[in-house]
Amino acid sequence: MGVRVKPSIFVGRFIVLAFAFFCLIAVVNIFPLSKVMTVQAAVGRIAPRNPQTINMGENTPKQNSTQTTVGSDFIGNKFELADLRNLYLAPIDKQKIWAMVRKKARSQQKRVLVTGGAGFVGSHLVDRLMLMGEYVICIDNYFTGRRSNVEHWEGHPNFELVRHDVEYEYTAEVDQIYHLACPASPPHYQYNPIKTLKTSSLGTINMLELAKKVKARFLLTSTSEVYGDPEVHPQKEEYWGHVNPIGPRACYDEGKRVAETLTYAYHRHDNVDVRVARIFNTFGPRMNENDGRVVSNFILQALKNEPITIYGSGTQTRSFQYVHDLVDGLMALMNNEFKLPVNLGNPDEYTIAQFAEYIRNEINKNSIIKNLNATEDDPQRRQPDITRAKNEIHWQPAFTVKQGIQETVEYFKINLPSL
Ligand SMILES: NC(=O)c1ccc[n+]([C@@H]2O[C@H](COP(=O)([O-])OP(=O)(O)OC[C@H]3O[C@@H](n4cnc5c(N)ncnc54)[C@H](O)[C@@H]3O)[C@@H](O)[C@H]2O)c1
Repeated sequence: MGVRVKPSIFVGRFIVLAFAFFCLIAVVNIFPLSKVMTVQAAVGRIAPRNPQTINMGENTPKQNSTQTTVGSDFIGNKFELADLRNLYLAPIDKQKIWAMVRKKARSQQKRVLVTGGAGFVGSHLVDRLMLMGEYVICIDNYFTGRRSNVEHWEGHPNFELVRHDVEYEYTAEVDQIYHLACPASPPHYQYNPIKTLKTSSLGTINMLELAKKVKARFLLTSTSEVYGDPEVHPQKEEYWGHVNPIGPRACYDEGKRVAETLTYAYHRHDNVDVRVARIFNTFGPRMNENDGRVVSNFILQALKNEPITIYGSGTQTRSFQYVHDLVDGLMALMNNEFKLPVNLGNPDEYTIAQFAEYIRNEINKNSIIKNLNATEDDPQRRQPDITRAKNEIHWQPAFTVKQGIQETVEYFKINLPSL
């Protein structure tokens, strides 16, 4: 027997349900999902980057996505790309650049030491810190770096440039130390392997001693080279690596491994507050045109109408990240509580042969591609697993390789008049 429902009760239930539905719609409109996620991410950490701009795990760069900003509001390092380009793609106008520096009261300003700050990556980091209004001390021995990379800041009241070799002690009252000093390209670090080892070992000890003394937070720029010629793919931070300790690359690979060991020894023994970034291949404006790295080599060869040279068969793989993504990652790590090593790289993986073809098609379709003898201990596969970076510091690359290559080409055209 069916239960008969009075029409008035039915209408009443309908009104209650309709009211509940209306309330639900109102709540979702007031607190959209993206806002809820941002608030969650902000609790103790930083917000995720704009998901539309993420370029992940593809073998070809996305053709349509173009970044117009760098950084994040949560760290306070967000800037228009168009403004940043004034620092490396336009004739330097100090007044215009200095006018972009945010004003901060001394009490709000961080004092930041950047070792290797006149180098390729270091100079972009210095730019961002300066624009944020921090007080920046840049030390460099100019082995591979150039004073011209940071000369637009010389004379600014928030900036000090010090010629110093990190192999020797250095003291300054600072809150944060970004320790980048170390040649990064194979011809440069192999030029004097003993000096490279001293820079990585003694240089890191000196900077950790300073961090201990002044209670500064210390960030080491380590490298994917700590994984050597990896047997695990892609490389996660838990992988201990496969390094030849006596090969020609060992001065750099083992130097960085000992630098990591020192970093965690000072953390365990002396409670130094440490961060370790394992950086994968990075490219961009201010790369040293003579440093023999694959991106600058290929771009310059294509621009000069010379053969694009591949060492070995070209089946070895690499992943390339644009320098502004790396700077975002370094700052996200420094301003986060996570202490274990974090991979910073773009997981888009290319074979070197594919990449050579890509550069040829983008820059000079007449270039020929030429294979030379393979170099010793050249890693066969290189691709970061960036799950940890995504989960722990809420970072992932935003620039496509295409956009980065375009800016880098523009930079070389402006700065190498012989082209
Ligand atoms: N660019 C990359 O693809 C990449 C990849 C992995 C790791 N890294 C790491 O990032 C850091 C920066 O690399 P980069 O590409 O800017 O290289 P870079 O050679 O352009 O910069 C290194 C800077 O350190 C300075 N330096 C070297 N030895 C020094 C010393 N003893 N004392 C003081 N200064 C010294 C150089 O003059 C230069 O300015 C390095 O530690 C490197 O190992 C870079």
